[in-house]
Amino acid sequence: MAEMKISPCEQAEAGALHPKFIRDEEERPKVAYDQFSDEIPVISFAGIEESGEKRAEAWRRIVAASEDWGIFQLVDHGVDFTVVERMSSLARDFFALPSEEKLRFDMSGGKKGGFIVSSHLQGEVVQDWREIVTYFSYPVAARDYSRWPDKPEGWRAATEEYSRQVMELGCKLLEILSQAMDLEKDALSKACVDMDQKVVVNFYPKCPQPDLTLSLKRHTDPGLITLLLQDQVGGLQATPDGGNTWITIRPVQGAFVVNLGDYAHYLSNGRFKNADHQAVVNSKCSRLSIATFQNPAPDAKVYPLKIREGEESIMKEAITFSEMYKRKMSNDIEVARLKKLANQN
Ligand code: SIN
Ligand code: FE2
Repeated sequence: MAEMKISPCEQAEAGALHPKFIRDEEERPKVAYDQFSDEIPVISFAGIEESGEKRAEAWRRIVAASEDWGIFQLVDHGVDFTVVERMSSLARDFFALPSEEKLRFDMSGGKKGGFIVSSHLQGEVVQDWREIVTYFSYPVAARDYSRWPDKPEGWRAATEEYSRQVMELGCKLLEILSQAMDLEKDALSKACVDMDQKVVVNFYPKCPQPDLTLSLKRHTDPGLITLLLQDQVGGLQATPDGGNTWITIRPVQGAFVVNLGDYAHYLSNGRFKNADHQAVVNSKCSRLSIATFQNPAPDAKVYPLKIREGEESIMKEAITFSEMYKRKMSNDIEVARLKKLANQN
């Protein structure tokens, strides 16, 4: 039977955190949401389409950040400021709607796309402090508009334009990463067979006891790249050493945080990092982020495209992206199941 989810939006004004959101000691935030770090590179995309020094510099920095961090921020990226602003403000308006209105798009019970309280994983012991709306935007033929919220008015059209512009930017980044691997510029997009795009809009209400919970637990993204837009509140954290040292990424107005995922990691034979990240919450205000996942088609092969001299393949066998995803998720569910059992004993 599906787990009963507690809505963080309805809990935001409560004096204490509902036990469903309380994380184990070792998982709790180590660094505050507003203790910002500038360690993650902020890279300008201006001039990327011309030849010359500016392009070479941006190119070099993108490749270095992909290798060192698997995460960087991109400014002057060409996605229209007005489109970004409209998308963000309409998204906020959606989460302010009454629950019954949001639940018209409830995706629990296995529906593809819509609204959900907290995270996707069923059977998880601890819930993430968030509500989301998610929908599949590419390939266009796979769009199911019945799962795209029709309120607030104009959001659907704003979303379509946003998705289109972010797809264009994502494709430009893929060309750079392909060439960095000494491959043709369309190598990564060809490997994807048909580029999928999924948008996840996250709303994190303010939280009565932010030190005890996470708005999004530690994870790597499964796909190729994620283009994340965040507001000015702060809360996205990365770990420089892949261990338990966390930094809070300073929000940069209008920038995209680019995250490389597992698929990029495998296709580059481990050269590009799949960045561990998480999000923390605060007691003063809510936060909004919009993650656009650029993913391969489900039957695309996961296997290194380039194995450099002296290297060995980091994969034993080629599997499909859907198989890779299934293994990743079942592992997460298994970890959650074992934790739940341990808590019951
Ligand atoms: C994500 O990892 O998908 C979102 C992180 C954030 O909201 O900052
Ligand atoms: Fe993520």
